[in-house]
Amino acid sequence: MADVKKLYIKTYGCQMNVYDSERMAEAMGGSGYVETQDPAEADMILLNTCHIREKAAEKVYSELGRMKQLKLDKPDLKIGVTGCVAQAEGEEIMRRQPLVDLVVGPQSYHRLPEMEARVRAGEKALDTEFPIEDKFDTLRHRPKARRGPTAFLTVQEGCDKFCAFCVVPYTRGAEVSRPAGRVLEEARDLVERGVREITLLGQNVNAYHGAGEGGDWGLARLVWALSEIDGLERIRFTTSHPNDMDDDLIAAHGECAKLMPYLHLPVQSGSDRILKRMNRSHTAESYLRLIERIRAARPDILLSGDFIVGFPEETDADFQATMELIEAVNYGSAFSFKYSTRPGTPAAERPQVPEEVKTERLYRLQELITRQQRAAQDAMVGRRVGVLFEKAGRMPGQMVGKSDHLHAVHVTGDVAIGDLRQVEIIESGPNSLAGRLLSS
Ligand code: 5AD
Ligand code: SF4
Repeated sequence: MADVKKLYIKTYGCQMNVYDSERMAEAMGGSGYVETQDPAEADMILLNTCHIREKAAEKVYSELGRMKQLKLDKPDLKIGVTGCVAQAEGEEIMRRQPLVDLVVGPQSYHRLPEMEARVRAGEKALDTEFPIEDKFDTLRHRPKARRGPTAFLTVQEGCDKFCAFCVVPYTRGAEVSRPAGRVLEEARDLVERGVREITLLGQNVNAYHGAGEGGDWGLARLVWALSEIDGLERIRFTTSHPNDMDDDLIAAHGECAKLMPYLHLPVQSGSDRILKRMNRSHTAESYLRLIERIRAARPDILLSGDFIVGFPEETDADFQATMELIEAVNYGSAFSFKYSTRPGTPAAERPQVPEEVKTERLYRLQELITRQQRAAQDAMVGRRVGVLFEKAGRMPGQMVGKSDHLHAVHVTGDVAIGDLRQVEIIESGPNSLAGRLLSS
């Protein structure tokens, strides 16, 4: 039997990176690696990086700097950089940091085992190609390990939208959708392994248009096909662009019982002037009309969004328009960021907003969002919702799961991981809800 080697993966950034890290671990499993949580015992370390905000490359260099000692202690240790920073700055990383043996971009993970063999033989390996084929294809016949009740499933990658602040179209490349048959096959496989809730992932997931029976399938068609899988109880998707919310998908939110009442629909700003400069190709008004239609289809849907404050040339009035949009929508949750320049994107060249102005705007925006989030949570008290239980809670006998609306809910009672139960919400705390199990 081949030696068991240990793999340590550190994942930064979005859920898509979490999914990719799982696939990388599976791919490396074929080369005799098992995962470890301890970098000190690893034979290979992979940093799965994110480039979307912060000073991503600098973070990677300082993390690599900290690994110097590990490599001195264990000269056979191999170190790789994967993900979007690898894609954007791979060659530069190899040049600047000799510790790095391997650089692989997000489109090339299926070639990891072969790259690992080269690295073991003492070479350096770099692959940042954009292949056309389905990169997950080679992993289709992996061993069927049991899984927890929830899983991510990537259905689409890349983005053609070119928002003026964003690196994704450059690091993840053009939009590519996986064929519907492959997605369904992977979903069935996950369900056989114990999964009851699947979150479909894509940088622009609702732009999905995968080849399927009878032609290209949109996301709504894929959701309906997934909903026919016995044992799969819940479907979610993220992240969506307002311009790709088509009628079928809106209707599915009203009609498909397995599609959960939660939608992450980033708007970024409430000012038309800024939206235009962001190259968003929607207005505040068109977004609000869209929300109306979605709520008409599914009145109790919980909405979440992304906001950027301090985009170049954002005035007080522009920021005020964002606050007004938030008031008008009433979000259940949101992610908000100070604009940060990403080299190579158009907005990086524009006049910047002072840091202290960004800080103050972010504070005010987050205060408003927190209030709305809390109100949405409080409004759940007295309601009956489905909860899929995922783990034990902190108190003895307590179990924690996610509600249909993606709130964390804890109950005390006879319930197992993977159970989907009706729960009456009895209390709303700062970060979670307390519930009472209803008889099944
Ligand atoms: N600065 C700040 N936030 C950004 N995002 C993307 N690029 C930037 C940037 N340069 C945010 C957007 C996006 C989310 C994933 O990250 O709000 O929706
Ligand atoms: Fe980036 Fe999303 Fe805009 Fe695409 S739609 S460029 S991923 S923010």
